[in-house]
Amino acid sequence: MTDTDIKKGLAGVVVDYTAVSKVNPETNSLLYRGYPVQELAANCSFEQVAYLLWHGELPTDAELKEFEEIERGQRALDDSVKAVVDLLPMTAHPMDVLRTAVSAIGATDPDADVATEESSLNKAARLYAQVPAIVAYDQRRRRGEDLIPPRDDLGYSANFLYMTFGEVPADAVVDAFNVSMILYAEHSFNASTFTARVITSTLGDLYSAVVGGIGALKGALHGGANEAVMHTFDEIGTADKAEAWLEEALASKRKIMGFGHRVYKNGDSRVPTMKTALDTLAEYYDRHDMVELYDALNDAMTSRKNIKPNLDYPSGPAYHLMGFDTLTFTPLFVAARVVGWTAHIMEQAASNALIRPLSEYNGPDERHL
Ligand code: ACO
Repeated sequence: MTDTDIKKGLAGVVVDYTAVSKVNPETNSLLYRGYPVQELAANCSFEQVAYLLWHGELPTDAELKEFEEIERGQRALDDSVKAVVDLLPMTAHPMDVLRTAVSAIGATDPDADVATEESSLNKAARLYAQVPAIVAYDQRRRRGEDLIPPRDDLGYSANFLYMTFGEVPADAVVDAFNVSMILYAEHSFNASTFTARVITSTLGDLYSAVVGGIGALKGALHGGANEAVMHTFDEIGTADKAEAWLEEALASKRKIMGFGHRVYKNGDSRVPTMKTALDTLAEYYDRHDMVELYDALNDAMTSRKNIKPNLDYPSGPAYHLMGFDTLTFTPLFVAARVVGWTAHIMEQAASNALIRPLSEYNGPDERHL
């Protein structure tokens, strides 16, 4: 076996079929169940997209109404889960809090190991409804604020923002948040989704698979990048300093967070839509400096390395403008991606094969004591 036989990082390896989404790097496109993600972001609520990803078709009006009622009925943070969150120190990273809270939800579900399609859909809906409550409460407790109960007269995005900030923001903000949730919801066999599928392939339960997905998403090379982008912006300060900052960062061999992608080499299909949402927010909050910095670093990175931004690049500053703590950015990604993960978990379970690759041993030759 030669080095070229080793597919390090599984780069370029096709391991299975999926009908959930299609990433096409040649045309820079992303389809959810056949629909371009840009069209979904422009025309749909996150609830409609969640239904689409799980059921394969967009809901009728009656199906949507029933689906929304299921989500609205489970939004309140369970007392036992709140108690678990309250045990954790304020210094815990919100991704660690979320991972622990989702694990607690699994541990209190008597049907955790039931893997029928109906039971899996119920669990997926429960997580989809409860993750916002955990994320919102965790940010509030770190700010010394009380939990805010959900409002069932609001849609998913408006309620999420209400539970976090105690008021419903302007439509422009709710719409931008809805767009971010749709764009983050699904992206084929990325690292966290693959992690969830590996766990499902051993017949591990849905909660364990989601907890594994959260662990994989936390890393800065994956979902943790949206948080890291904001640290970069804070470090640079203003647009006029972006070029010099980049020179120094590249000279010290730093990876520039929010740029590059394993699959897209000519630009992430989701970036233009999220950049438009960022522009709208910058206009609304009168924070054009944020877009100037965004453009300056993007231009410098393009001329210096020709590496394009990924979705985390516009979503980091967008979440900042909405008022979220930087530490909360990656948990917001989880809130959206839990839909994609669970769609893949159900797909994996429906046509399962244990995922178990091989390795080439390169340790010492056989030896004896
Ligand atoms: N900054 C600087 N150089 C980069 C970057 C970057 N962000 N991304 C890629 N490169 C360079 C690498 O240094 C490497 O150069 P070399 O060939 O001279 O060594 C070349 O481009 C190829 O990069 P790899 O890291 O080998 O590409 P890979 O496909 O493994 O990595 C990844 C993709 C992990 C996303 C990478 O681009 C990266 O680390 N980006 C920063 C983290 C990030 O933004 N992650 C978010 C991913 S998307 C998402 O989760 C929504």
